[in-house]
Amino acid sequence: MTSGRKTFQRSELTKEICVVVGTRPGIVMMAPLIHELGRRQVPHFVVHTGQHYSPAMDADLFEDLGLPQADYRLEGVAERRTHGGQTAGMLEGSEKVFMERRPRVVVVNGDANTNLAAALAARKLHMIVAHTEAGVRSGDWRMPEEHNRVIMDHISDLLFASDTPSVRALEQERVRGEIHRSGNTIVDASVMSVAKAETGSSILERLGLEPGNYSIGTLHREETVDVPEYLQTALTGIAEAADNIGRPAIFFLHPRTYARLKEFGLLSWVKNLNGLVIHPAVSYLDFQRALSNAAVVFTDSGGVQQEACIHKVPCVTVKDSSEWPETIDISANRVTGLDVRAIVEAANEAIEGAREWPIPFGDGAASARIVDVLERCLIEDPSLAPLPVVTADRV
Ligand code: UD1
Repeated sequence: MTSGRKTFQRSELTKEICVVVGTRPGIVMMAPLIHELGRRQVPHFVVHTGQHYSPAMDADLFEDLGLPQADYRLEGVAERRTHGGQTAGMLEGSEKVFMERRPRVVVVNGDANTNLAAALAARKLHMIVAHTEAGVRSGDWRMPEEHNRVIMDHISDLLFASDTPSVRALEQERVRGEIHRSGNTIVDASVMSVAKAETGSSILERLGLEPGNYSIGTLHREETVDVPEYLQTALTGIAEAADNIGRPAIFFLHPRTYARLKEFGLLSWVKNLNGLVIHPAVSYLDFQRALSNAAVVFTDSGGVQQEACIHKVPCVTVKDSSEWPETIDISANRVTGLDVRAIVEAANEAIEGAREWPIPFGDGAASARIVDVLERCLIEDPSLAPLPVVTADRV
């Protein structure tokens, strides 16, 4: 790198693709893409921002998903606790790697701070920013993920949308980049792992669970778990609902949720709730097997809402809105808000309803479609003008 340089011309960038990961859902969703790049021998490397670091949120996932170690891992991010500090650490760290390697394309996924940081670093260096799972909106402006999504969509050159509402949101907001309806790679990941989970995970045996005779629960959103009253309401609702349908909920405890329960002095309260069985967060394959054999899923996670839909397990979304409105339209999902009675009613409805619906966000071939477009970026003349403003007929 020429000293004092702050940015690059496209012609100075290498014919390489950089894939950025850093959080549990990001690793899952990028895995099929990394495999596809490898299969086609497209030059690429992987940067791990270090946002997630616990084994079940990080290293175990790489193993379960058959991924090689990341080529770069940023240091010192896990210690940064605030959104600003965490994002700043990852912005600076990813910029350093990008300046050293100069990839022409940087791929970021979803809505975590990891992806905003890397997208911003790449944007400033004039690299092509590709955002997978673009256009998702919850409409809830309290969520850090919503801020991240909106900013990333407006600074990306390539936007890979999962479904019709995402394409519509991007068009309505008049983003500058090219919109491609690719489907969501979470479907590819689930398809890739379903058989492996059935044979490779012993979670049902370990916990003595029979398929269909239990439900599962997860909560981790800061809007829910960081406020003691909200957290208690959500957990009470899930416990009562699970008890009422006669399928106790195995509640997989995210590190954030564990930390808050401890801080609020609620650990023994939650362990004594009828209808809940508290369990530490598990590996990806264990979670997939537990989820795909459950009667109902209770969650506030966008990714788990999708996975429930893919595995044909009815979902109860314990927050005010869903990132995946089409799952509600097809009765795969119900949004309850933080309301005990609504959670109980939704679970009753879910258990009685049909478990057959089309999957609205992909067919398992999203990563192939995305890599088709990424490869084009490596082949085309690098002196090309910046990518054009999108028009609807490109979709
Ligand atoms: C992040 C993403 C969210 C994603 C979620 C999945 C943002 C704004 N949010 O939220 O979109 O759905 O990941 O998990 O980026 N912790 C551990 N071990 C870990 C990771 C975190 O103990 O491996 C602890 C941290 O110390 C912190 C808490 O969990 O106390 C929160 O982690 P953080 O990475 O800030 O965000 P998430 O809430 O996990």
